[in-house]
Amino acid sequence: HTRMDPLMLLFLLIAGLTVSVQRRESVTIPCFYDDRYKTLVKYWCRGRNVSSCPPIVHSDSPQDGKVSIRDDPHQPVFTVTINNLTVGDSDFYSCGVKILGDVDVGDQVYLSVTDGSPELSVDKQEVTGVEGDSVSIQCRYGNSDSLKLWCKIGGSCASERSVSLDGRPVLIRDDTVNKIVSVTMRGLKRKDTGWYWCDAGGWQIPVHITTLLFKSTILFSSLVQLALYVGLGLLVLLLIIIIITWKVQDKHSEYLLMQTINK
Ligand SMILES: *[C@@H]1O[C@H](CO)[C@@H](O)[C@H](O)[C@H]1NC(C)=O
Ligand SMILES: *[C@@H]1O[C@H](CO)[C@@H](O)[C@H](O)[C@H]1NC(C)=O
Repeated sequence: HTRMDPLMLLFLLIAGLTVSVQRRESVTIPCFYDDRYKTLVKYWCRGRNVSSCPPIVHSDSPQDGKVSIRDDPHQPVFTVTINNLTVGDSDFYSCGVKILGDVDVGDQVYLSVTDGSPELSVDKQEVTGVEGDSVSIQCRYGNSDSLKLWCKIGGSCASERSVSLDGRPVLIRDDTVNKIVSVTMRGLKRKDTGWYWCDAGGWQIPVHITTLLFKSTILFSSLVQLALYVGLGLLVLLLIIIIITWKVQDKHSEYLLMQTINK
């Protein structure tokens, strides 16, 4: 029996997210998967066992009521968004990849929906910054004794004592009076785009950072584009001139030939 257990293969990298959300709020959960599953159907279901839990949404029919799923095979990641959460939605959920003729693979997420303030939260799970600028993320927590971490999904974690995360500058400050951890990422680069999470007291909240191109980069690329169009236009013009000259010369030599014959 040499066949590798598919569950042993590298799949979703966010094993065991535990997320706390306030009632009526929304949450987006990223589910990472291996490159080899790019073309397969992804799903989100309620329960811990990905092989037996009934799917709520599939990537080939991406919306069901308040739950939607979006697959981005380029990352590769699929995200599940649940709106208007109720306390009754609290449960284990699974991110799954449907594998025909074999056991599906997947990972679990625990979602805890509370009436009061959530254990760990951010104002926005989607943060956008311009290349070269900085972005700041505030994570509010309930339990002040625990170690606060800022992690890059698929990478490592940074704490208040860290100055960098995977070689990128990061500043983490813990305001224990207001129970807010502030994360500042300076000198944003395009490669900083991706999923991160705040971690405190056994709770996590995913945050997506998008780095937009710096304005001068956009200006530069439009100038390059303009130069390209002008160059192309000149080339077409040159071609037309060559063709006309050639035709005129052709007519001229025809005329000369006729004159020679007439003589
Ligand atoms: C998960 O579900 C499958 C299919 O129903 C079953 O064979 C398997 O034993 C279950 N796994 C666990 C850990 O319960
Ligand atoms: C949210 O869900 C509650 C309970 O199911 C419902 O009464 C309410 O209308 C919903 N709100 C929105 C904006 O969908």
